[in-house]
Amino acid sequence: MTVHSGTDQGMQKSLPSDYYRSAEIFAQEKEKIFCREWFCAARETQIPAPGNVLVLNIAGESVLIACTKQGDIKAHYNVCRHRGSRLLSEPGDEPSKDIKLNGGVLGASGLRCPYHLWTYALDGELLNAPYTKEAEGFRKSEFSLYPVGVEIWGGFIFLNLTPEAATHESKTLRSAFGDAMKRVERYPLPDLRVAKRIVYEVAANWKIVLENYNECYHCGAVHPELCDVVPAFKQRGGAALEWEQGISHKEGAVTFTWTGKTNRAPFPGLDENEKVRHKGELIYPNLMLSLACDHVAAFTLWPKAPNHTTVVCDFLFHPDEMRKPEFTPNDAIDFWDLVNRQDWEICKRVQQGTQSRVHEFGYYAPMEDLSLDIRRYVLERLK
Ligand SMILES: [Fe+2]
Repeated sequence: MTVHSGTDQGMQKSLPSDYYRSAEIFAQEKEKIFCREWFCAARETQIPAPGNVLVLNIAGESVLIACTKQGDIKAHYNVCRHRGSRLLSEPGDEPSKDIKLNGGVLGASGLRCPYHLWTYALDGELLNAPYTKEAEGFRKSEFSLYPVGVEIWGGFIFLNLTPEAATHESKTLRSAFGDAMKRVERYPLPDLRVAKRIVYEVAANWKIVLENYNECYHCGAVHPELCDVVPAFKQRGGAALEWEQGISHKEGAVTFTWTGKTNRAPFPGLDENEKVRHKGELIYPNLMLSLACDHVAAFTLWPKAPNHTTVVCDFLFHPDEMRKPEFTPNDAIDFWDLVNRQDWEICKRVQQGTQSRVHEFGYYAPMEDLSLDIRRYVLERLK
């Protein structure tokens, strides 16, 4: 498809509507974006000890992340090298109780395929394949699990499903997002812990969710409670927001809660601006970070279909605050939950309207400039 992405009536055109509704384009995005770029998959704290294993599904690919016997984090495709059996069940896809499959995780020493009991170390090495003999030319070293690339930043585990290409192209997380990492370097992200996770099923294309995160033109209309705490979000359609220095709250407010106040201490190490302002970052293709002085909302997007995205929202707090007997995260979480559900509802409306036969493309108003970035990001990779 030829994409005409010029200006019209003084406004930039969005991606053609097919990019938000076509299964064919979604399949291309899987191959050229989610399986090629660094994808934010988990928090390190989800697998803190040797033998801990997580099974995840990234755009249809089942992947396992493991903490090895040595304490390293490694990831592999969840596929046996022998006959291709899925090694471990995905959550929600376990066999019924009367079927006992052998295999599974064997603690820190490895995992076993339930089909012919091939056993692998958690670093992917094949340890044992029953009744096969090296002497007859079978080399276990050539049957390691298919590897997935791993990088850690800020306590987040990022995966790359085509690690050979990433290495070949020197495509590291830092080479892509070094600037964003610098902008939030004083936030103690690796130390933070998840006080609560909310999983949202959003009836919209993943790019609609990102585009919505990237502009505040909608805030006055969609988020009255948020705009009460952060009046700048509705002033001039959010046209003059200075994200680099952080966004100011209303007088006396310092964070995203119903009152804008908090009884939690600011994170250690923040500068004077960061103690009273709000910052946001978007790490393509799937991590949205909202940083207050006392908590961080981390959103990961899991594209499931052209019109369906699962959004996992982790609410991160400092462990020193979490240890206090009076600690409660609810003033932040309940506030965010309302704002989030307002966003998902409006994203659903965009998806619904975009599916109309008359809607060939939309427009970005001048204050939605950051959303142009998504057009560029996607087109560069799908060409
Ligand atoms: Fe919003």
